[in-house]
Amino acid sequence: MDIENVACVGAGLIGQSWATLFASKGCAVNVQDQQEAILTSALTRIRSNLGFLARNGLLDGADPQEVLQGVTVTTSLVEAVKNVEYVQESVFEEYDVKKAVFREMDAVAPKDAIFASSSSGLLITEIQRVTTQPDRCLIAHPFNPPHLIPLVELVPGEQTAPDVVQAVSDFMRRIGKAPVVLRREAPGYIANRLSAALWREAIDLVDQGVASVEDVDKALRMGPALRWALMGVHLTYHLGGGPGGIEHFVDTLGPAFASWWKTMNTWTSIPASAASKVIEGVTNMNVVQTKSREEIVRWRDEKILEILKVVSGSQP
Ligand SMILES: NC(=O)c1ccc[n+]([C@@H]2O[C@H](COP(=O)([O-])OP(=O)(O)OC[C@H]3O[C@@H](n4cnc5c(N)ncnc54)[C@H](O)[C@@H]3O)[C@@H](O)[C@H]2O)c1
Repeated sequence: MDIENVACVGAGLIGQSWATLFASKGCAVNVQDQQEAILTSALTRIRSNLGFLARNGLLDGADPQEVLQGVTVTTSLVEAVKNVEYVQESVFEEYDVKKAVFREMDAVAPKDAIFASSSSGLLITEIQRVTTQPDRCLIAHPFNPPHLIPLVELVPGEQTAPDVVQAVSDFMRRIGKAPVVLRREAPGYIANRLSAALWREAIDLVDQGVASVEDVDKALRMGPALRWALMGVHLTYHLGGGPGGIEHFVDTLGPAFASWWKTMNTWTSIPASAASKVIEGVTNMNVVQTKSREEIVRWRDEKILEILKVVSGSQP
């Protein structure tokens, strides 16, 4: 299946970024949201994202203004999805909202259109039930910002057809993404489950007074995150095991990890005291005090591109 015409339903942070990516790769993109004001700011953001891509040589020499001609905005869901092969839904992270959108799209989109949700962790098995074509629904979860971060997690539900997963995987590869297909649904999928496990400990270290917000972040980015940009945790520990590799690591450091796990908190909602310490700590970070959000985002995006130049396609 050739995917050339796509709709981005929901034009917030993630919808705008997906629209940038699809347009930059030559797709015709209909962007839909409920209010004109949101669409106006989405278009401003997409224009600025395309300018950023062009300045960094990521628009194949195309003029961002011309690429922008391929983007149409509308408040009408019918208009947005009526002629497309693929919909990327990025509305609020609530089952009721997503189900209402899927039900409405199902009634008006072409019968062979694929519906992909950007959800950060909801189960598509639950959402696809409200459609008449559940086999054509799946999760395509990006990492923010989708027009720069390659990962997309493809999560089929109980009724998703394997050929639909394959078609989306092919499409994502074609537009430069790095798809990972889950074998089985799990709330939060892979990357957010890992992030959630790490974030709980990061919050707890602050809450228990072990370190400041700034030092917890520094310990990550000046240490493990540098290796993680190249290798996942498993290959990293394979090297950590020396000549004996991962087997030696499991044998020798497994018990040490076990002793740390025993001391870790396992709360399932952020304790109020911890939340206020983290919020205060982040608010008082030097960079947050001295730079605007926009300046930090631009710096982040430029550095992501530099990191990608180093790691893309890189093999030992
Ligand atoms: N923010 C992130 O880092 C991130 C990363 C990956 C995935 N996601 C997921 O992407 C989705 C969107 O997140 P976001 O951060 O862009 O949120 P957001 O609040 O910035 O944007 C959501 C948009 O959806 C619109 N919307 C709500 N109901 C709608 C409807 N019925 N029809 C059309 N538009 C509707 C809202 O007006 C809003 O503009 C969520 O499912 C979220 O979990 C977010």
